[in-house]
Formats: sequence, structure tokens, C-alpha cells
Amino acid sequence: MEDPILEMRGISKSFPGVKALKNVNLVVRAGEIHAICGENGAGKSTLMKVLSGVYPYGSYEGDIVYQGEERRFSSISDSEHLGVIIIHQELALVPLLSIAENIFLGNEPSRMGVIDWSEAFSRTRDLLKKVGLNESPNALITNIGVGKQQLVEIAKALAKRVKLLILDEPTASLNETDSAALLDLLLEFKRQGLTCIIISHKLNEIARVADSITILRDGSTVETIDCRTEEISEGRIIKSMVGREMSDRYPPREPKIGETLFEVRDWQVEHPQHPGRKVIKGVDLKVRAGEVVGIAGLMGSGRTELAMSIFGGAYGRNITGQASMRGQPVDVSSIQKAVGAGLAYVTEDRKALGLILNDDIKHNISLVNLPGVAKAGVIDDATETHVANRYRKQLNIRSSSILQKTLNLSGGNQQKVVLSKWLFADPQVLMLDEPTRGIDVGAKYEIYTIINELAASGRGVIVISSEMPELLGICDRIYVMNEGRFVDEMPASEASQEKIMAAIMRQYRVTA
Ligand SMILES: Nc1ncnc2c1ncn2[C@@H]1O[C@H](COP(=O)(O)OP(=O)(O)OP(=O)(O)O)[C@@H](O)[C@H]1O
Ligand SMILES: [Mg+2]
Repeated sequence: MEDPILEMRGISKSFPGVKALKNVNLVVRAGEIHAICGENGAGKSTLMKVLSGVYPYGSYEGDIVYQGEERRFSSISDSEHLGVIIIHQELALVPLLSIAENIFLGNEPSRMGVIDWSEAFSRTRDLLKKVGLNESPNALITNIGVGKQQLVEIAKALAKRVKLLILDEPTASLNETDSAALLDLLLEFKRQGLTCIIISHKLNEIARVADSITILRDGSTVETIDCRTEEISEGRIIKSMVGREMSDRYPPREPKIGETLFEVRDWQVEHPQHPGRKVIKGVDLKVRAGEVVGIAGLMGSGRTELAMSIFGGAYGRNITGQASMRGQPVDVSSIQKAVGAGLAYVTEDRKALGLILNDDIKHNISLVNLPGVAKAGVIDDATETHVANRYRKQLNIRSSSILQKTLNLSGGNQQKVVLSKWLFADPQVLMLDEPTRGIDVGAKYEIYTIINELAASGRGVIVISSEMPELLGICDRIYVMNEGRFVDEMPASEASQEKIMAAIMRQYRVTA
């Protein structure tokens, strides 16, 4: 694997007000797994969009040499034609179509001008086997989890005869088991000769699978590390990404925990489409003033459904149970009432639920607390600008200004805007669902610091996270959830990944 399959030379790319890439060089050897790392907004996704023709020839400067020839892709289908397939940061499957339909959408096998679905289904079956996905080709995308959706995207790439596979944060929304399975699959493809470019903020994964790592900072190449000649650690990558050592991943925490702030009892929720099917089966949850409480569990254990059902019934039907704030019953049956009662929920699904993509950073931040930026009942632009700039600085939101549309922000920076919005709403209890998904190491530390400060000011924070080290690092107490129930609860000081997993497995034994 010596010859380069790809050389990107002196690539520059600008957007109005932003120079996203400045003279970037990237050399990828045939048959390797090449990682691209860098902070949120460093230019990783933009570089891959240049490569794949999303940004066509003429809209950037520099040269792309692929398989020994200079290429001028004018569209994504040009690059696909040569086997360059990109799987974007936000998955692009059609939820209400089947796996087979998604895989062959726009690429349908046909016989005499008629789509040959039996051929499509049998080819889908083969492809699913190759990616190790045990689902029917008929299954609807909406009914399979994100981990499996990611595998469908890869199957779709295989259907297009991929030679260079580009994965933009493929494991961001996957749990550890699904992530490990996906990385094993990439290693298997590598043995079969496929070249891969992978972008990820999960540096432990990069350290595990990468043959080379190119680091971008502020739109420029910092270096390419050859993992065959150098021992790779997360610390080594971080230093190159942020330009300094980072000794601690979690800020120090000295909790001052008070009385019970918010509580739900015997919380029960039915599936929105299947009346009678219980998704949340009698949960008792409480968070005290000054406390950071984690909810651990596998994907599909009901954590998001629990939080959303508490937050104004945003999920589910026939919701029953008692909610109280400082010992007083509160009505949380609509989002407006939940916000009024002092709750906030930061969604894991920022694209669909968290942001008005067509609007700017400023308006998105003030959205749920308009009175906070109003004077005499009228929105005051100066206040709104001031507030937005404050959060932009505090969370280090990379953008040309607060007037930039959130649609054009990098994934991690979109997440920071969603978080700012709910921080500005000044809730008593903040529920955070996967708050650091897709966030770089430095910004994670900032977010943990904000969580600490919120707790220190007497608020309660509930964190749902699939990253157990994160829960162990920032929480005071951890609930373990499985199949719609809390199956265990422990102080973080006594918790470990093993104990949490054991609690989940124990329940399987009991229910089996
Ligand atoms: N269509 C666009 N219009 C304007 N600015 C853009 C556009 N796309 C990207 N940018 C800007 O270019 C810079 C690089 O963004 P990019 O999405 O490449 O970052 P990234 O390294 O992928 O970050 P993340 O880790 O958060 O996904 C950012 O400052 C972003 O705001
Ligand atoms: Mg990106």
C-alpha cells in the first residue's frame, strides 16, 4: 500500500466571509485507512465535499489527482462513477422507504426499462450479508436504529462499486458495540483492498484503526502522522489538533447537592403508533439541586423516549405518572407548560428537532426565551445581538458572525447553538441528550464546564450519554436504564463501565 490513490494539492475553498480551507494537502495511500482529525469547523467535511464533487471543479482552488490522473469532478455522480463514495455526517436515507429501496434509489436494476425489484431484493440480501446486517430488505429505515442505518449506507456504497470510501463521523451516533462492529467491518474491507477516509472525534477509535492521520486546524493542514512509524495515542492527536497538551478531559467537580428539585414517579408511556405497547414502564427519577444525574443504557433502552415524554409529551401517548418541582406537582403535558415549569431538553437530533436551519445563529439562540431579549414587549435587537455574541464567545461557536445561517455551520457548531438556546432559556432542570455528540475534545471540556456551573448555581442537570466514560467523568449519580425501566442506580463514585453493563445484563437474565 505505497502508491497514493489520492492526492489533493493546495486546496483552498471560501464561503462568504469564511476561508474554510487554506492550501490543504492530503495524500492517501491505496489500501489504507486514512483519518482526518481536527476541531469543529476545522474544514474536514468541506475538504471531503471538494473531493467528492459536492463542491464542483471551479468552486475551489487546487488540484485533485485520483488514480494517477487529475480529476475535475463537476458533480457527485462524476466522482461516484470512479468509485469515490461519500457517506455524509448527517445520514441521507429516506425514512419511509425500505432498505432495498434506499440502497437502489436512483440506481435501480432494470429489465427492459422496468425496475427489477426481485433483482434489487436479492442483491440487497447479499449486500446486507457483507456488512453483517441481519435485517429484511423490506424493513423500513425508520424502524431500524441508527447503527443499522449506518450499515445500510455502507451497503449502498458497496452497491455502487466503491474504491475510495469516505465516512464523515460514522460512529458519532453509535454506541460502543455498534461502533466496534463498524470499525471491524472497515478493517475487513481494508484486507480486501478498499481505501477508506474516516473523519471522527472519537480519537480512541482513530488510534485503533488508522494507518495515517491528517490533522487540520483552522482550514490548514498541520501534519500527517504515519502510524506505522510512530506510536499513536489520543494525547498525541489532541496536541496536534489544538496546538497544546490537554492534561484533563473533565473539569474538576465539587458538588454541593441540596434538596430534591425535580421528580417524576411511576412514569409510564405508550408507543405513539402502537397503543397499548408500553415503552416506558414505571420510571421513578429525581434530580436534586446542584446535582448532575446520568442515564446510562444501550441504544433503544428508552432514554430519549423518557426525556422527551417528560418534556411536554414530545414523545408517546397515554403518558401517566406524577411530575413535581420542589415538591409541588407540575403540569408538563405540553412543551410550553414544561418550559414554564422550568424544564429544558436539548435534543440528540439537532437537524430535525433542534434548529431552524434557515435562520441565523442569533435568532436560534433567543428562540425559546424571547422575553429575555425584549424591552417593553418588543424584541430588542441590541440585546439579542449581545446575548448571541456572549454564547458565541463562551462556547467558541466558529462562524463568520452571529448572522450566519445555522444550516452552514459545521456539525459540531450547530450542536453548540442548540445548547446555547437552552442555556439562555435559563431552566431549573436541563435534560441533555447526547450533548457532546460530534463535538471536539476542547469544546467538550467547555460544555462540561458549563454543566458544572449550572449545577453550582443550584440547577439540576440530567445527562443521557452513550459514552460511559463521559457519564463517569461528569455525573454525581447514575441511573441504568434498560427496556423502558431503571434497572439500577449508583453514585458515580462507585460506578464503573463494568458495573453498568452488569446491571443491564442482569436484567436480561431476569426477564429471559
Ligand atoms: N455552505 C457553507 N456556507 C458558509 N460557510 C460554510 C459552509 N459550509 C461550511 N462552512 C464553514 O466552513 C468552516 C468549515 O466547516 P466544516 O463543516 O468543513 O467543518 P468540520 O471540520 O467538518 O467541523 P465538524 O467537526 O464540526 O463537523 C466552518 O467555519 C463552517 O462554518
Ligand atoms: Mg464536519
